[in-house]
Amino acid sequence: MKHLLKLLDCAPEEITSILDRADQLKYERKHGIPHRILEGKSVGLIFQKSSTRTRVSFETGIFQLGGQALFLSSRDLQIGRGEPVQDTARVLSRYLDGIMIRTYEQKEVEDLARYGSVPVINGLTDFCHPCQVLADLMTIRERYGVLDGLKLCYIGDGNNMANSLIVGGLKMKMKVSAACPKEYRPDKTVLEFAGGYETFSLTDDPMKAAENADIVITDTWASMGQEAEKEERMKAFAGYQVNEKLMAAARPDAMVQHCLPAYRGQEITEEVFEAHAEEIFEEAENRLHAQKAVLAELLGSERR
Ligand code: CP
Ligand code: NVA
Repeated sequence: MKHLLKLLDCAPEEITSILDRADQLKYERKHGIPHRILEGKSVGLIFQKSSTRTRVSFETGIFQLGGQALFLSSRDLQIGRGEPVQDTARVLSRYLDGIMIRTYEQKEVEDLARYGSVPVINGLTDFCHPCQVLADLMTIRERYGVLDGLKLCYIGDGNNMANSLIVGGLKMKMKVSAACPKEYRPDKTVLEFAGGYETFSLTDDPMKAAENADIVITDTWASMGQEAEKEERMKAFAGYQVNEKLMAAARPDAMVQHCLPAYRGQEITEEVFEAHAEEIFEEAENRLHAQKAVLAELLGSERR
């Protein structure tokens, strides 16, 4: 693996190897075993959108790996004033050992990888959120011991999270069901990929999607950049809330995942959120371990 641009590019074995490494790094962190595999390396973190978890978990994760993290807000970079990504990529590759970028267009991330010469990690685009879904898969595997054969159900907007969950879940041999309103379906390329799997289903009926699910996942109804559409989205998604009624259709011990930030009373009720808070915050913690695994895989030396 040279970059992490989207899960569509990753082989199932590569995903498994990241998850195994993430478990190992989590164990080492809990037991105070140092793992300074980024010693002497610098990683730039470009943010064109807000972030709490991604920024903090990358910064602290890189520190724990012995490397240096540079927070690069697009407000301060020349890219925010129109310097082309092709030039930014070639310049930053001469200073940095790796780049994480959170932005709008997937093409920008792909271009950064194409024109630069260091590993690029996608920290969220409008199209996908691979780092988050690696953490989700890690959390689910921790709870159930396996991924193979589990039913993952996604309810709500066919957005970046839906796209990555569908691809990641299917690649890991999970059954994936998604319930999205017709106008808010996942990306065409993702549906094309998923069309090759008998284990995938897409419906506009949330209760049907949730039937016997082992994991129920949702996300905000209005993602970053969609603030102007908020009102119409609230109406379109009104029947797509993860609430106690929906959870009753899932398996009795089903877990709930939410990438956060969560909007209680919208995509998830306070009751369901709080009943599953432990799993949701474990998922948030696992961002740290999963991303350290990605960094180690892409730019680590095995030197300790
Ligand atoms: N889940 C997630 O990516 O959170 P942030 O937007 O806070 O980084
Ligand atoms: N779908 C959300 C995820 C936030 C982590 C967004 O893009 O804003």
